[in-house]
Parts: sequence; structure tokens; C-alpha cells
Amino acid sequence: MLILGIETSCDETSASIIEAKAGKLKVLSNVVSSQIKIHRKFGGVVPEVAARMHVENIMPVLKQAFSDAKIKKSAQGGSPAGWGKIDTIAVTNGPGLAISLLVGVEAARALAFSLNKKLVAINHIEAHILANWLENKKIKFPVLCLVVSGGHTQLVLVKEVGKYQIVGETIDDAVGEAFDKVAKILGLSYPGGPIISKLAKKGDENKYDFPRPMLKSDNFNFSFSGLKTAVLYKVKDLKGEPIGKNVGNENFRSLQKKLSSKQVADISASFQKAAIDVLVQKTLLAANKYGAKTIMLAGGVSANQKLREEIKKLEENNFDVVLPNIKYSTDNAAMIATAGYFRAKKKDFISWEKIDVKPNLRL
Ligand code: KG4
Ligand code: ZN
Repeated sequence: MLILGIETSCDETSASIIEAKAGKLKVLSNVVSSQIKIHRKFGGVVPEVAARMHVENIMPVLKQAFSDAKIKKSAQGGSPAGWGKIDTIAVTNGPGLAISLLVGVEAARALAFSLNKKLVAINHIEAHILANWLENKKIKFPVLCLVVSGGHTQLVLVKEVGKYQIVGETIDDAVGEAFDKVAKILGLSYPGGPIISKLAKKGDENKYDFPRPMLKSDNFNFSFSGLKTAVLYKVKDLKGEPIGKNVGNENFRSLQKKLSSKQVADISASFQKAAIDVLVQKTLLAANKYGAKTIMLAGGVSANQKLREEIKKLEENNFDVVLPNIKYSTDNAAMIATAGYFRAKKKDFISWEKIDVKPNLRL
């Protein structure tokens, strides 16, 4: 079975073709066109700009995905470069930016109609989780998955593929969002996660004692907004900038000190440590409480080396630990096609007339 995956929920336009043979999944192509350079100028993702870029990119990305996959030209129908050979089209229909999602969904709808193919609607977060099945087939259930992305921070109990229970989540900012905001406070560019994690390697993670929000709470929820504010106050303090009414006053600005690169590295390392401490400790508590056999990471922040190392250490507590391949951590369509495979197996199809975007879709 050949599955085409399409992803446009945020700032990556992506298309991928995977092949499923006797339950084994093989990625034939995975084209990701990132808009990061454009959004960097604005310090974050601008939805209108993102949607416009998706419109420009979607056809070239799809064509590239088919050409990379090297599918032989269809015998019947004569569709170009093997487009007619795919069996199922999987597309993200939520959660995400409505006008960005729409571009992928409309492309998938048009293809499903014109090529007469089956269509599946994919939850972006479920796809992040299922990216772990691309290379690890023997995963023991129940799984406790820590989902960490730009918009989500959730602890998800996976009883089996398709059966999810959110046992905890952030009550304010997502952890990826906190990385991005802290980077902004430090005058670094977007997205903050990769830059902070790089700078943190040169910093002292014990230099600043940032709070570990909700570590002692008796639930599995998170909060990262206070941690971000603690970083902001520390930066103002180091710069000699007053907190409160005189912020922005030119006289004070001229007195402000610039942070040294050592200070930026130390703040990056200390912030990262505080965030990861909470994530890892709560994951362990939840894994014990719910009797998980496997602990898993998913989402863009799972590309963070330090988080991967700390989660991997939980093997000492007799859990299997499964991490996604870094190339499938951040947004990509191979994970959408993977989720499409599992949906197609259950015949969970949707007609091209009925599919719709769901910006606030939950697991
Ligand atoms: O899953 P993703 O690609 O998009 C969403 O679905 O949100 O996640 C993007 C988030 C961004 O906030 C980005 O800063 C963060 O993942 N991220 C990282 C790293 N790489 C990406 N955060 C920490 N360390 C990284 N190495
Ligand atoms: Zn994502």
C-alpha cells in the first residue's frame, strides 16, 4: 500500500510517500519546505504569510515527493509520475492555523476527487506520536508519551494505536512556545528551541535558579508561563533595566547593559534545565501511576538533545524508552502518512466532500 501524506498545519509545507508492505513501513520520500527564514523577520509565524507560502509551495512540494519516491508511471490512467499509483491520501486537518490547514486539505480533497483515491483526515498530534512507529515496530503498551511541540505539552497514555487519554497538559504556554519566547527575550532569532539548546551546551545550567513550576502539584499538568517571566525578570535585572513603569524609557535604555555571551549561555542552560526537570519528573510520575511499559517522546521539542538524554535515563527505572528519529521530530509529512496507514487499516476514511479543517482538534 502506498500512502501520500500532506502537512500544512503551521510553517512547514510537507509531502511524503510511504510504502506499507506486510506491516513494515518504508519512507520513499519526505519533502519539507520550511518557511522559517521568512517568519524569522517577524519574530514568529504570521498566519496570513504562512498560508500564502503554503499556496505557493504545495504543488512543487507534492511533485518533488512523487519524483523522489520514484514510483513507476501508472499503467492505467496515465497519471503523471505515478500519482495514480497511490492508494490513500492522508492530510492534517487539525489542530493548527485554520488558513494554513485549509491549503493542505484543499489540495488533498482535489487529489482524492481527481485521482479517485481514499482520503483520511489526520490529527497532527496523533501523527507526532505515531512517528515513533516508523522505525520501532515492537513497542510495548501501555505507552506514556510526552508530547512537546510549539503549541502542545501533553502527557498522553497510549493504550493502543488510536486509543489515547490525555492525563496532563499545560495550563498556559507550551514548552516549545516557552523556548521561542525566552529566545526572543534574549534577542535570539526564531525558532528559539534549536538556538537555546545549542547555546545551552556552552552555559552553566546551575548558574541561575529558575522555578520548576507545578513540580510538586498533585496532578500531571504543566505551566511554563511563570518560568518565562522569571527569565524575563532575570534578564532585566542583569541589564540594569527597571521592571514596571520605566520600561521603554529612553534614558533608562541608554543606561542598559548588554548581556555578555556567557550570560546568554548560562540563562539558556539554566532555563532549559528547569523546563526539562519538570517534563522528565512528571513523565516518570505519570508512567508509574498509569503502569506504562514504555515511555516515549513526540513533537518538535523532542529534537532537543538534552531532553532526549534525560528521558533515555528513565530506562534505569525499568521502562522501555522510545524516541523518534530526529528527522521525524519536527513537522513533516512522513508522520502524517504513517498515521494515514493506521487509519486506512481500520478503514477510517472520509469523503472528499465531507473533510473540513478543525483548528482546535483534540486527541
Ligand atoms: O512540532 P513542531 O515542529 O511544530 C508544532 O507542531 O508546533 O514544534 C516546533 C517547536 C518550536 O517551538 C521549536 O522551538 C521547538 O519545537 N524545537 C525545539 C528544538 N527544535 C525545535 N525546542 C527545543 N530544542 C530543540 N532542539
Ligand atoms: Zn508539530
